[in-house]
Order: sequence, then C-alpha cells, then structure tokens
Amino acid sequence: MKTLEIKSLIGEYSFSELSEIEQRLVDHAKSATQRAYAPFSKYQVGAALLLDNGRIVEGSNQENAAYPSGLCAERTAAFYASSANPGVAFRKIAIAAWIKPGENENFEDGFQRNPVSPCGGCRQALLEYEHLYGDIEVILYGGDKIYKLPSIKSLLPLAFTEF
Ligand code: THU
Repeated sequence: MKTLEIKSLIGEYSFSELSEIEQRLVDHAKSATQRAYAPFSKYQVGAALLLDNGRIVEGSNQENAAYPSGLCAERTAAFYASSANPGVAFRKIAIAAWIKPGENENFEDGFQRNPVSPCGGCRQALLEYEHLYGDIEVILYGGDKIYKLPSIKSLLPLAFTEF
C-alpha cells in the first residue's frame, strides 16, 4: 500500500496586496453580485473572468422556480465568455458573494467575510477550459481575507479528465 499526498498552496491576501488588474477583477465580481437573480436563496454570487484578449466578462447566479434549472455565477460567466469569445483563453477568475446587509454576522456591508469557493460542478466546468487554454488563476474574495490559487486543478484534485 502506498499513500499519496495531495497538496494545495493557497495564498492569503488583503485587497491592497492584489495587483491592479486583480483588484479590478474583484470589483467586477462584487458588482456582478448586484445583477444576480436569487429570489429563492437570497445569496447573490458574482464572478468575473479575465480573458486573454483583455476583456472582463461577468456572470451572476440565476435561479429558477424549478430549482435545478438555475445556474451558478461561475458557469454563467464561463459559458457567456466562451460563447461570445470562442477560442479565447481564460486567465483569471474572481468570485464574491453578497446578501442583504444586516442579516448575518458572517457578512460585512453585505459581502461574505470568508472567501467564496466555487461548487464542484463549476470547478469541473472551469477545468475543461483550463485544459483547453492553460491555467486559470482563482481569486476567492472575502471581506476579511482573499485567497488566491494558481489554477482550477488545485481546487479539484483527482478530477475527471476523460474528454
Ligand atoms: N452559487 C453560485 O452561484 N456559485 C457557487 O459556487 C455556489 C453557489 C449559487 C447557486 C444558488 O443560486 C445560490 O448560490 C445558493 O446556493
């Protein structure tokens, strides 16, 4: 028997420690939360993708009364970006989450204090673009701290890759 170890190195940043473009990307993710359609969960997620052509594409979660028919912010952004810019690499993604202020102490000015981390389905969907175009840096925004990871695969060890 052998034991295999999986390691992820996560950088913890403050907003001012991010580069200028990363700060802009976080601002886009935060502003995208305000365009979420989340009447059921009331949890508004925003994602912003930096493309290789310099464009920034935003997405937000879009819910539906038939619950599974809704879509997360990250996949909304990725599918929107890829359909409008086919063949263009994704370089970075930033994610933020917001709820109505004053309702939960884990949120400040509406924004989640802890870094927001994408669900498994979004990790798998983003991984496919990473395989096509190269590593996508991940910026998980939190009001108290920001996590930065070098790639989607570092968020999804032992991923399904048979495609
Ligand atoms: N959600 C996202 O948009 N991204 C995630 O990574 C996790 C969850 C959305 C889905 C749903 O609309 C709401 O947040 C509550 O789960």
